[in-house]
Amino acid sequence: MTVNATLRGTSGEPPIPAPVRRAEPTVWRNPHRQDAASVLAASAFCEADMRQAEARWRRFDPLLAQLFDGTEDGRIDSPLLPVAPDLSRTLLGDAPGSVWVKADHDLPVTGCIKARGGVYEVLAYAETLAKAAGLLRPGLSYAAFASDVFRDLFARHTVAVGSTGNLGFSVGVMGRALGFAVEVHMSHDAKAWKKQRLRELGARVVEHPGDYGLAVAAAREAFQDRSDAHFVDDEDSVDLFLGYAAAALDLQRQLAEAGIAVDAAHPLYVYLPCGVGGAPGGVTFGLTLLFGDAVRPVFVEPVAAPCMLVQLASGLDRSVSVYEAGLDNRTAADGLAVASASLLVARTVGRLIDAVVTVPDADLFRWLKVLWSGAGMRLEPSAASGFAALNRFLAETPPADVVSATHVVWTTGGAHLPEAEFATALARA
Ligand SMILES: Cc1ncc(COP(=O)(O)O)c(C=O)c1O
Repeated sequence: MTVNATLRGTSGEPPIPAPVRRAEPTVWRNPHRQDAASVLAASAFCEADMRQAEARWRRFDPLLAQLFDGTEDGRIDSPLLPVAPDLSRTLLGDAPGSVWVKADHDLPVTGCIKARGGVYEVLAYAETLAKAAGLLRPGLSYAAFASDVFRDLFARHTVAVGSTGNLGFSVGVMGRALGFAVEVHMSHDAKAWKKQRLRELGARVVEHPGDYGLAVAAAREAFQDRSDAHFVDDEDSVDLFLGYAAAALDLQRQLAEAGIAVDAAHPLYVYLPCGVGGAPGGVTFGLTLLFGDAVRPVFVEPVAAPCMLVQLASGLDRSVSVYEAGLDNRTAADGLAVASASLLVARTVGRLIDAVVTVPDADLFRWLKVLWSGAGMRLEPSAASGFAALNRFLAETPPADVVSATHVVWTTGGAHLPEAEFATALARA
């Protein structure tokens, strides 16, 4: 059932649809969506910001190529993969269109979309420090960032972050590779193997008994007065946001190479797993800059943790948590176990999002298994959510909206899952 966004709770509660408050799978069409031009005109960010982020990525290509195996020319990007016809039929049913996978589950270096923001922000901090220290001569190849003189500088600084796991790993891998001290604050639902993996990198892991929001708040407070440290604020970072946004340029190039048109007659539906909102929000912003109204971002959240849905449906300009909607934020999709959405993201892209689809954990495991046995894709539960959403979304979308549509499911993590973890996830299907 598609619910009416104006459905209200009893006396004074925010207008969260009743099925959402009951943790039932829901397709929520965003009544606040506006045309791209007017939203972008009022935005604090513009195309030049995304292009500058892209230019910074490219400056660091020689460094990344030198430091990490598996980066093609130093680029942290994933392929755009066609979905096999039988799987496509399962997903689309009678609906027209074609389905593609943006395979960030296999992203070089971290196997997760969060590298697009986390690696980027560490690089931005390193560049700022190097510039202030007078190390950036004109014409310098950024491969020099791996040299002793740069590493000595970075070793005197700390990069800190609060994370459910994957952002921490992205920041940890990049930070440690440059010689930074790294401190990662993690929530109770962060997986043990993700903590272990960080410790093996030489990062300090601080465990918090509370949820992701509390871990982020604790880290923010611990580092607020430290001039020798940089806190990567997953809830409020412009660098993270723009690092993610640059992914839109990769997708634009790949769509063109595949001969896929994106315009008013050929809309592009993009299914984006959403935790705090930074990754899907940045991608949404970048794609809207490039494709305007032809892009239809569909955010995907667990039924127990639909923080972006709750934030947007409330219509309020203060943070609204899923706890206020009576939900418990307990989900096997650890990367999406976030109670309160980023206000930066909600304010910047809230009126660009086409829909939010919530999915139960059981669907994540089911799709995780289907994708493994049918397509050899190794996904973590969070990353399988886009497939679970597509089916449900199409069933409730007027066919006229999806004629000649292209659907891109963004698979956001999983290739680095340890064997035992993956086997356990498969067994839960
Ligand atoms: C696998 C995976 N997918 C999606 C996301 C969502 O990203 P964000 O929290 O920026 O919304 C995360 C976040 O950690 C993640 O780990």
